[in-house]
Amino acid sequence: MTPVEKLLQSNKAWAAEVKSKDPDYFERLSHLQTPEFLWIGCSDSRVPADKITGTQPGEIFVHRNIANLVIHTDVNLLSVLDFAVTHLKVRHVIVCGHYGCGGVKAAMTNHDYKYVLNMWLRNIKDVYRLHRTELDSIEDLEMRTDRLTELNVKEQVLHLAKTSIIQRAWKKEERPRLHGWVYGLKDGIIKPVFEMDHHSRIDPMYEYDDL
Ligand code: CO
Repeated sequence: MTPVEKLLQSNKAWAAEVKSKDPDYFERLSHLQTPEFLWIGCSDSRVPADKITGTQPGEIFVHRNIANLVIHTDVNLLSVLDFAVTHLKVRHVIVCGHYGCGGVKAAMTNHDYKYVLNMWLRNIKDVYRLHRTELDSIEDLEMRTDRLTELNVKEQVLHLAKTSIIQRAWKKEERPRLHGWVYGLKDGIIKPVFEMDHHSRIDPMYEYDDL
């Protein structure tokens, strides 16, 4: 059996097991999606949103990219954000990074990863530059990388708050709450590092006053 055939076989076994425990499960879920959370995480295969939070299908709306970046020109991410916030009306948006992130590590080198990856990683280099004094003062490379991972998550939450999508929902419905988390590959524990809600102030330059 090829690895891909094995995936399909495991899928059949999983579907049969779920159905045997709860015969209406798929029928019920197919009619309704009301997740409370939007998860913006890293594409890293070791950080599956539902497994590490013990949630079931239907509970988390998910977007993942390399190093969990929120980029204001990323139509993919913004579409997910708009749909989750404006239409699904999620109550929480979670940006979850993880220690040992390959994207963060790569951004800390001067290696040429060629055009597209250079472009993507450039956003993490910008986060480093914003916090250069603090980061340069940390001598141990692993500790410095861990701290950049935390600061990156915080910066991405701030990016969310700069969007009209979040500001409009804050103004009209006092939700969602924004969370910046970092997951530990070595212990499986999530560390909350930053939070914002409709009371939070953002740099006035990014505030829309006619929403
Ligand atoms: Co990663």
